Amino acid sequence: MSDKKATLKIYRGDNDGGEFKTYEVETYPGMVVLDAIHDIQAKQEPGLAVRWNCKAGRCGSCGAEVNGKPKLMCMTRMSAYDDDPEPIMVTPMKAFPILKDLVTDVSQNFRMAQKIPAFAPRPREADGTHRMQQDDIERIQEFRKCIECFLCQNTCHVIRDHGKKEDFAGPRFLIAMAGLDMHPLDTLDRRELLKDEFGIGYCNITRCCTEVCPEHINITDNGIIPMKERVADDYFDPVRWLIRKVGGEEKKKKASLPVIQNETSTPVVKKKKTEKAAKADE
Ligand code: SF4
Ligand code: SF4
Ligand code: FES
Repeated sequence: MSDKKATLKIYRGDNDGGEFKTYEVETYPGMVVLDAIHDIQAKQEPGLAVRWNCKAGRCGSCGAEVNGKPKLMCMTRMSAYDDDPEPIMVTPMKAFPILKDLVTDVSQNFRMAQKIPAFAPRPREADGTHRMQQDDIERIQEFRKCIECFLCQNTCHVIRDHGKKEDFAGPRFLIAMAGLDMHPLDTLDRRELLKDEFGIGYCNITRCCTEVCPEHINITDNGIIPMKERVADDYFDPVRWLIRKVGGEEKKKKASLPVIQNETSTPVVKKKKTEKAAKADE
């Protein structure tokens, strides 16, 4: 069964410090990095800590850095490193505190998720249905593929290198907001939240998050950039600013998005105006 041997250098330690330890494993066709970690756990180092669940690229829990690149270990073939004479380096995700070995504390992400106002659909039509355009549904479907692996959060330099963990929501949560804001039935306006609490202005659209997403979600172009444009239109367009200053909020109309309303439902989230209400105002 064994093809040949591979050498791995794996980080062992916690947030206070640690070291790389070297292990050798016998490889076989189709073996992935997570298999190698399990092999080491079973035969050499039972205390080696790793988080995983599905081994099928679905649960998002086995994120780590393999040779410095953010990867799902269960979806990364050992054969991808066949031509590299150097040992395969496996390290925990750098942006998060290390609990033990390859296991990081990603609870910051869960706290950020809790800040997102829930989906608030408009009332059903008179016949009891909700009608939506297929194009609108397809647009947000992409964002729902997210498996919450947080590889994008780990890669984003705003979080990773500049430590803006509290001021910047990060790519995963910006597309979560995009998925709600672009939903044709949703009635909340999340732009003020995006600007102030979620710090969307920190994103300088480097697209590093998009490059590492195992679900191939076009995070930057399809999610973040449209949201940045909406925030900029609303807060930094000098004409709109002037209109707001002298005459209150101007009327906005969007074909697929409910129209913004002036009144607030919470300090940071405004209700979007329904098309029906907008027509009544005209
Ligand atoms: S595009 Fe924005 S969110 Fe994505 S990695 Fe770059 S700065 Fe971070
Ligand atoms: S957007 Fe992609 S990289 Fe980010 S958490 Fe979701 S699946 Fe992972
Ligand atoms: S173990 Fe579930 S994504 Fe890797």
